[in-house]
Amino acid sequence: MNILIKTAEQIEGIRKSSKLAGESLSFIEPYIREGVSTEFLDSLIHQFIVERGAIPATLHYNGYPKSCCISLNEVVCHGIPSTQTILKTGDILNVDVTTILDGYYGDTSRMFYVGAVSEMADKLVKATKHCLNLGIQQVYPGNYFGNIGYVINRYATSQGFSVVYEFCGHGVGVDFHEDPQVDHAARKNSGPKMKAGMIFTIEPMINEGKPRVKVDQLDGWTARTVDDKLSAQFEHTILVTETGYEVLTDVLGEYDLT
Ligand code: MF3
Ligand code: CO
Ligand code: CO
Repeated sequence: MNILIKTAEQIEGIRKSSKLAGESLSFIEPYIREGVSTEFLDSLIHQFIVERGAIPATLHYNGYPKSCCISLNEVVCHGIPSTQTILKTGDILNVDVTTILDGYYGDTSRMFYVGAVSEMADKLVKATKHCLNLGIQQVYPGNYFGNIGYVINRYATSQGFSVVYEFCGHGVGVDFHEDPQVDHAARKNSGPKMKAGMIFTIEPMINEGKPRVKVDQLDGWTARTVDDKLSAQFEHTILVTETGYEVLTDVLGEYDLT
């Protein structure tokens, strides 16, 4: 395992790319409504990114065909935007964007609602956001990576939900997926220790029912819950600072600098 400590120059580049990734999610929000295809949303995100001199990192990544992932309802992650997937009232969806700007990567995702959603869907999405927030509070030099997954799993299960363990957060910035793997369910004080200058994602996927996923045999990407119950996810790219964290993809001003 080789966890990079980013230089000041790298941090500045990753900060800019992360901001652009976050801005692309804010940009797409007003287009999310009933009757729109996920392919249309992807094309708008693609245009937004390339117009700003960046590249969508998912496009042609290991053969992935689109510029973002859009995962509806029981889709856990890696939903492929399609003209066949039309948003309808009551849907919950995750839009996940990774940008490459001047060679640096930023990776973030949020949940959106199409009109009014069920009480269960709303509860799951709010709990998932809280899981990400709890994970972020564990980011400071000297803390164990395992404590991120420890607090996330403890809270998710307390709410009657389960944590997906087949996909994880990851180091990011110089490359798309770097060391370490950031587990969203882990033992207290396990794994490596965080150091200032490390940059990684926290991206919990929380399920209404069972934690397991099944990958679509036809497209090789779309991961769904085994029981077809709902799944939600939020993701941020986070820098370990001398005193705590900086959420590099936080364009909404939700996280104060520590
Ligand atoms: N953005 C995803 C992540 O958070 C990765 C998507 S890879 C793809 O790590 F190929 F599926 F797009
Ligand atoms: Co990621
Ligand atoms: Co992502």
